[in-house]
Amino acid sequence: MIRQRWKQGVEGEMRCVMLTGEPGIGKSRMLRAFCDSISDDSHGIVSLHCSAYYRNSPFWPVLRWLQRTFGVGRDAAAGPGGTDSERLKAGIASLGVDADEALLVLANLLGISAATCGPAVDTSSPSFKRRTLDVLVSMLEASTRDRPVLFVVEDVHWIDPSSFEFVGLVIERLISARLLVLLTARPEFESGWTFPHLVQVNLDRLSRRDCVAMIERLTGGKSLPALVLDQIVSKTDGVPLFLEELTKAVLQGDLLQDAGMSYELKGAAQAIAIPDTLQGSLLSRLDRLDPAVKEIAQVAATVGREFGAKLLGLIASTSENELQDELDCLIAAEIIVPAPGKRADDDAYMFRHALIQEIAYQSLLLARRRHYHARIAAALEEHYPDIVERQPELIAQNFAAADLPVRAIGYCSVPASGRLRARLTTRPSPMRSADSNSSIDAPATSLTGRPASCHYC
Ligand SMILES: Nc1ncnc2c1ncn2[C@@H]1O[C@H](COP(=O)(O)OP(=O)(O)OP(=O)(O)O)[C@@H](O)[C@H]1O
Ligand SMILES: [Mg+2]
Repeated sequence: MIRQRWKQGVEGEMRCVMLTGEPGIGKSRMLRAFCDSISDDSHGIVSLHCSAYYRNSPFWPVLRWLQRTFGVGRDAAAGPGGTDSERLKAGIASLGVDADEALLVLANLLGISAATCGPAVDTSSPSFKRRTLDVLVSMLEASTRDRPVLFVVEDVHWIDPSSFEFVGLVIERLISARLLVLLTARPEFESGWTFPHLVQVNLDRLSRRDCVAMIERLTGGKSLPALVLDQIVSKTDGVPLFLEELTKAVLQGDLLQDAGMSYELKGAAQAIAIPDTLQGSLLSRLDRLDPAVKEIAQVAATVGREFGAKLLGLIASTSENELQDELDCLIAAEIIVPAPGKRADDDAYMFRHALIQEIAYQSLLLARRRHYHARIAAALEEHYPDIVERQPELIAQNFAAADLPVRAIGYCSVPASGRLRARLTTRPSPMRSADSNSSIDAPATSLTGRPASCHYC
């Protein structure tokens, strides 16, 4: 079905597909499988990835796209030489859009002040926001002139209002572009969009047969005792992520022994204890790790889904070599993976799944959480001047979570470039829950009420 829409998109009839389904049901996996299936075609991919930690950061996924495209900001090392301003100018020149307007708008959006040599502009005005959206849409349109483009927006249930508006405009305006818009969203997302060229596909839970096949893949073809297999299938109820985690927890636990072609129960059948929830199965896997490795997982989870080894080293009381060993253990346990696109100055990692990070964070006692949040805030303050200047709200959020409100307040006024982006958020997104309607200078919270993390972390 997605392939058919892609074909229509390639022919200049833009199509939009929204994959929806509960957490861990396989939306991202399907998206990756589709991207792989068209990897032989000549096309461009524009990818926005929304994050639970940046629901209140205007244009967050768009900014990441722009930084990657122009090789500026945190992606400077990936771009050609020169300053951010020079790279931005060179990149815009090859876009095929109104270069002066694009430079003015994008330089302001990206906080590249040296590039703004045009007339003074009131960046807080609604008209400037409109100009920003126009430039972004025309950038995307221009990129579809040379070759078809797959425009991916992952985890749109976490999109910030400004990016939401951008995506809506793309779907509304670019109807004759060679474009397929592919979105993934959890069920709580209500776009309010009624575009005729948008179709929603809801992913179902796996059948028993699919569950058994998936477990067989995870055991490397070795059979499990029928009792254990039945329990995994019934407890996980066809949710692939839970099924993966529970099978791993069982294989890594003390329940079974390897008998060559199969696994056998070690003890009496009556004594088997298999966790009932995703949380229980992940916690049992964490508990089986060396305490120092488990602690690193918890510290990392306090930072966010994505984190850098450098920041972790500043927070955790461990040597550089030990930290690397501990991270390697977490990779071997398939709890974290190296983040795609490493930064020049820092190795970046991410939890394999957002829910895994949430559960690792929840496993921390409140006092330890506060302690780590205080250390994160202090490390950002001291070692990340960029964050102090551009994302002071992240430091405020960590101080607030550390129960240090006075320190948090010091970072609550939004200075310089942060102010522009704060002003660009003009309306709450329709899919947000009541607790997440805070403005940029109020602490952002995620599913567990924890603060946002930052992209340097
Ligand atoms: N049909 C499937 N067969 C085998 N593995 C699957 C299947 N669907 C999903 N998985 C695995 O389950 C895990 C969760 O899938 P995925 O990350 O795609 O979920 P998701 O729907 O995107 O969740 P979220 O809403 O949290 O982003 C992944 O490790 C994925 O490889
Ligand atoms: Mg996903």
